[in-house]
Amino acid sequence: MRTVLQTNFNGIDALTLATVPRPKLTATGVLIKMQVVPVVPSDWKRETNPAATKEQLTDLPRPIGIGGVGQVVAVGAKRDPALFNQRVFVLQPSGSYADYIVSENPDFIFPLPATVTGASAAALTAGPGTAWVLQQAILASAATEILITGANSVIGLYLLQLLQPTVKRLYPLVTAASQAYFKTQCPTQPAYTPATLPHTLNQPLIIDIAGYRPLLVNLTQRFPEAELVSIAYQQKDLPHLSFVHEQFEPQRYRQFIQQLAVGRLIAPIDRTFPIAQVKQAQHYAQDHHSRGRVLVAF
Ligand SMILES: NC(=O)c1ccc[n+]([C@@H]2O[C@H](COP(=O)([O-])OP(=O)(O)OC[C@H]3O[C@@H](n4cnc5c(N)ncnc54)[C@H](OP(=O)(O)O)[C@@H]3O)[C@@H](O)[C@H]2O)c1
Repeated sequence: MRTVLQTNFNGIDALTLATVPRPKLTATGVLIKMQVVPVVPSDWKRETNPAATKEQLTDLPRPIGIGGVGQVVAVGAKRDPALFNQRVFVLQPSGSYADYIVSENPDFIFPLPATVTGASAAALTAGPGTAWVLQQAILASAATEILITGANSVIGLYLLQLLQPTVKRLYPLVTAASQAYFKTQCPTQPAYTPATLPHTLNQPLIIDIAGYRPLLVNLTQRFPEAELVSIAYQQKDLPHLSFVHEQFEPQRYRQFIQQLAVGRLIAPIDRTFPIAQVKQAQHYAQDHHSRGRVLVAF
């Protein structure tokens, strides 16, 4: 079967599309034929930087990817036989880019209703779970004015959906190149650049998704007392900064899937590349402004 391996830290172009034996079903495992997997920023960060994430991902070679959607084709003796033949969203921190994976963790596998497309379920990976963490920071803050950098990002668009309805005043910050796209996604929500941000704001809460230091320096100089909560900037050289990350909670993913099923949550999707073009897919996602999640199909 095909898999995509990271064998060094030389970046996207050093990825290897390899042929390896199909993994064997275990008594505690579920064999899944993968259909669609997402490209997320941590993919290319991990491919260049051994310290990019907290997980132990420095043992190479390793299959890339942390989640995706596939069809269950065999169920181990100690697992729920009802999983057989189901289409599932699966989280697989040990690597999801393969024709077949064996999922061993019952908490990491989520059967999908027929109304949820594979693409939108695959885009749950590194998406609304992180937006939920930011939503909690906003709800816990006394600030009534909320700046959101990178608001057109995949996580930003999930966050704006999770926040509705809200009594807080939202100030999405979006680059000039992404204003028109943002308007197509959030037609009733005004977007700002640092230049158009109202001067009347009073120490807003800054939610950072872009992780772009010059922008954060600009904002922290302008609002010196403002709390800054980031999912993308980990250095400790800015005032009032906390870096946050997702604490995985299976029930939350079941809820996101239900919301997708009834159209209360919309997954931002860009385009899908075939697996043979995995390097092009990662370059496309890295080099272009965010227009939704890029996917790779097996
Ligand atoms: N802490 C965690 O638990 C966690 C979990 C998942 C992801 N993340 C991180 O969260 C970030 C967002 O993820 P995502 O999947 O939503 O990414 P994404 O869809 O690719 O969006 C990236 C965003 O950053 C903005 N941006 C990039 N460079 C910028 C610059 N120089 N100035 C202003 N804005 C800039 C982009 O604006 P344009 O589109 O206009 O270029 C876009 O809005 C990534 O860094 C990812 O690694 C963290």
